[in-house]
Amino acid sequence: MQSDRSSVVGSVERGRRLGVVGLFAGVGGLELGLAGAGHETRLLCEFDAGARAVLERRFAGVRLHRDVRDLAPKQIPEGTDVLVAGFPCQDLSQAGRTAGIGGARSSLVDQVFRLLRVRRVPWVLLENVPFMLHLERGRAMHHLVEELERLGYRWAYRVVDAMAFGVPQRRRRVFVLASQQEDPAGVLFADDAGPPEEPEWTGEEPVGFYWTEGNRGVGWVVNGVPTLKGGSGLGIPSPPAVLMPSQRVVLPCLRGAERLQGFPADWTKPAATVVGDRFRWRLVGNAVCVPAARWLGDRLASPGSFEPDRLGGEIGVGPWPNAACGGARSRRAITISEGPKRLKVKPLQSFLVGAKDLSARATAGFVQRADRAQTLGKLRFPPSFLKSLRTHLQRLTREGSEGRAAILAAAARA
Ligand SMILES: C[S@@+](CC[C@H](N)C(=O)[O-])C[C@H]1O[C@@H](n2cnc3c(N)ncnc32)[C@H](O)[C@@H]1O
Repeated sequence: MQSDRSSVVGSVERGRRLGVVGLFAGVGGLELGLAGAGHETRLLCEFDAGARAVLERRFAGVRLHRDVRDLAPKQIPEGTDVLVAGFPCQDLSQAGRTAGIGGARSSLVDQVFRLLRVRRVPWVLLENVPFMLHLERGRAMHHLVEELERLGYRWAYRVVDAMAFGVPQRRRRVFVLASQQEDPAGVLFADDAGPPEEPEWTGEEPVGFYWTEGNRGVGWVVNGVPTLKGGSGLGIPSPPAVLMPSQRVVLPCLRGAERLQGFPADWTKPAATVVGDRFRWRLVGNAVCVPAARWLGDRLASPGSFEPDRLGGEIGVGPWPNAACGGARSRRAITISEGPKRLKVKPLQSFLVGAKDLSARATAGFVQRADRAQTLGKLRFPPSFLKSLRTHLQRLTREGSEGRAAILAAAARA
């Protein structure tokens, strides 16, 4: 990977080239995708030392500000067309603390509105987890659209699944797009390839699941992995596991995880000297999946049209729908799928080079939880799933003492 600026700036064949400011830039998933569509990053803002090391290298030459809280409106470069902000999700995600939009981390989105009050940028793009549509009856969405409307923006949002763009990762995210002069619906709702086919698992396909869970759900994805997560603040990596048709259970390595997010392998390597490899998992898991951002970048360059028959009813109180649009006068639900495209999903195996076996201890723990949940009727698995996991465990037993110890321990607990 080249480290100069030209390595992240593509070219717009048709349409316009926009100047981008990236707040909460992380390792630059949104910005890399937008750059692929030809847009140019003019300023980045990111707090985390490891992520900053990545940005300094991958967006060399672009000014990098540390803390959004002391970014002055006048520091937003003249001619900025789009302000992007994948703001912290910890208070809004199911896995997080669910303090809501008023929580210490997620309320940082208010810094975006503080800047916009003084510096009206034509386009604003926000990104976060879909759980915010439901948490506290959608209070976060109310807050976001109220602020945007107060500033005179029209807005649209849509839940989009990264798998639609051909990466074998199920990653649903809400993209909120707002514009002062144009209709954001023409960007977000121009493409719809319909809902995905949910393939049946026959045992011949790899299946991804969260080995750390097993009590209530497992994040089951055939030919893919469930959402890569940021992991714990302690940097304990816990990527999802994959049961292969060979009945081996493996964990993707960091390079594979980077590619599952649409980055080139080793994208986050510059962070290794600052925070160590374990923390790179968090950087990767927090990122916006690059191909989804690329699609948005292409559509920002050349907006399409929006079919009015997609318009649904007025949004009332309660959880928000998966897509909607509005402005100061009305807020309407939109009927549209989570798949703007339906690109052929790349084989998961090709992302698993260098993958390691899920340990016997972890496998035994998962099997025990899943067995119990199944017995209690909380979960149902295809019959051969747990059998295959036991085969993996037995193989580890044959190959080493760790597996035997884990099986004996699991048997003793059962
Ligand atoms: C969800 S991640 C961003 C993902 C990123 N936008 C992308 O496109 O891949 C949120 C980021 O906000 C950063 N952040 C948190 N507090 C911040 C602050 N006060 N100033 C700047 N960045 C902050 C975090 O370090 C984290 O990297």
